[in-house]
Amino acid sequence: MTMLDTDAAAEAARILNRIETEHGVDEEFARRVEKHFPRLHALFGRLYGDRPDAAEQLAAVIAEAAASWRARSLELRARDRLRDEDPGWFLSERMLGGVCYVDRYAGTLQGVREQIPYFQELGLTYLHLMPLFDSPEGNNDGGYAVSSYRKVDERLGTMADLAALAADLRLAGISLVVDFIFNHTSDEHEWAPRAVAGEPGYEDFYLIFPDREMPDAYEQTTREIFPDDHAGSFIQLPDGRWIWSTFYHFQWDLNYANPAVFRGMAGEMLFLANQGVEVLRMDAVAFIWKRLGTTCESLPEAHLLLQAFNAVLRMAAPSLLFKSEAIVHPDEVIQYISPEECQLSYNPLQMALTWEALATRDATLLQQALDTRHALPDGTSWVNYVRSHDDIGWTFADEDAAQHGVDGFAHRRFLNDFFVKGAAGSFARGVPFQENPKTGDARVTGTTASLAGIESGDAGGEDRVVLAHAIAMSTGGMPLLYLGDEVGQLNDYTYRQNESEAGDSRWVHRPHRPDGLYAQRNDPSTPAGRLYARLTKLIATRKATPEFGGNALIPFHCPHTGVLGYQRPGAEPWEERVLVLANVGDDPVFIDPLTLSGFERHAVDILSGAAVDLDDGVFLGAHRFTWLRVDPLW
Ligand code: GLC
Repeated sequence: MTMLDTDAAAEAARILNRIETEHGVDEEFARRVEKHFPRLHALFGRLYGDRPDAAEQLAAVIAEAAASWRARSLELRARDRLRDEDPGWFLSERMLGGVCYVDRYAGTLQGVREQIPYFQELGLTYLHLMPLFDSPEGNNDGGYAVSSYRKVDERLGTMADLAALAADLRLAGISLVVDFIFNHTSDEHEWAPRAVAGEPGYEDFYLIFPDREMPDAYEQTTREIFPDDHAGSFIQLPDGRWIWSTFYHFQWDLNYANPAVFRGMAGEMLFLANQGVEVLRMDAVAFIWKRLGTTCESLPEAHLLLQAFNAVLRMAAPSLLFKSEAIVHPDEVIQYISPEECQLSYNPLQMALTWEALATRDATLLQQALDTRHALPDGTSWVNYVRSHDDIGWTFADEDAAQHGVDGFAHRRFLNDFFVKGAAGSFARGVPFQENPKTGDARVTGTTASLAGIESGDAGGEDRVVLAHAIAMSTGGMPLLYLGDEVGQLNDYTYRQNESEAGDSRWVHRPHRPDGLYAQRNDPSTPAGRLYARLTKLIATRKATPEFGGNALIPFHCPHTGVLGYQRPGAEPWEERVLVLANVGDDPVFIDPLTLSGFERHAVDILSGAAVDLDDGVFLGAHRFTWLRVDPLW
């Protein structure tokens, strides 16, 4: 009998009964299972309905969830209840994220703990620590090749240190975020040699093929992700067979068509949840399901899998959230975002188009993205960022660009030339990443300050850094700051001398904590001090502006291609709004009173507190912006 033959409620009762006979009744858990099991059962049916072991694996997942719930601390259970009462907590205008590498920013987990006062000074409420698990020596893709999800890299500390840090952060009002790197493991994970050896129960954990027949067939339609490392999507094992490896050759893709893999990774996820992690950044979500003849990206089953993981969490660690890392076509990015799948998502389109607008001095494509691609389902949020630890990929939709007469291919080439080759009019000091001569694809790396013109000494550099952050902090959702950018950290080219980093230019924008710049942060005569003062002013103002909570955004069009406009309505009844006007151009602009005539004439500049008479129009210098509280005329 397969699980599809059974009724979900009966199945849940049977599984719960077995758990309760062994461990006694836990009413809270039983209630959650009764509520969420039908969804998980249906998803399992769709993913694994034709597998003979589906019912057994599903029962094992629930048993694992029960064990995990029993092990969940009282403090975390209290947090679960708190979040139940306020499920939209992450939509608050008070949210501010930060991201850093443990070793590079603070040495160890203990070092991160010592930074908590600084995080509070800055106003962080969310801290993403880059991968910190056990991973191979040398190149390990910055920790994205995980050898054990239950062991912290011993140079950084222990799992107990991580749990203690999570608790301290929680007390400081900061949610801990870590990566859940579940598309692949490192080739040193304990499952890897077992699968290669064909050990019963592990032989299908990865996708291994005896010869090139299937790899060749798949590669007809898959994309090369790390062409500098290897061509195609497979690498050859020493015994001549081929294994699926989307990213580096030492990162082997898991085979989620096998429900035992789902069960195994659900166990790792629950373990992390019980360490006090509040958000899991779901790495590389687009790649988790493969089907011959497709791109093997963003397939429907990828969503079913994420929803199934989500349902497991709702039973055993209900306050945990998922953030999706889908750096793909915007039509696909949005599909990962829902309360039942990933509640949070990076906004790679807005990020890339912010840089595009600065390069072209034209806000048209960014305005279009805000007008047409910003809306999200209730109970979900964008995470808006200026840059991340990864490259900038130009993921805008060609069809959107075409509406404005822009050819996508040529425009990407222009942008790459602008950011990495110092094309005419460029202020940027970027470095190319994974240029693919076969497709013409290339991506850009660099710190915010280096890309924005501070490294090249361009007069607009500081203003562009502030402008880019002002956009990320005001369009809606949660802003995420790459720590170090708030003091204008520049590219660090020393990675070229380091054997395990030289082949990956993303290290150029992952420098160590710039202690010297931080020491200058309160000195307004330094660039670091000026930037810090301006950015912390933005942060404080955002936190005091309820209209900046949530994602709602109403477009506002100015008759200047260099000016981006939008209104943030805040909660209904929307009597007041914050109007944002941002000039990405190199020339000052004047926004005339007629353009602003839909508002009462008296407005307030919420950054300075100054009264503004809209009948005088608004003057914006090059790379300047304004946040105005306005009253719409109804
Ligand atoms: C994600 C990470 C990136 C990593 C890749 C493979 O895209 O952000 O840094 O290389 O996944 O894990």
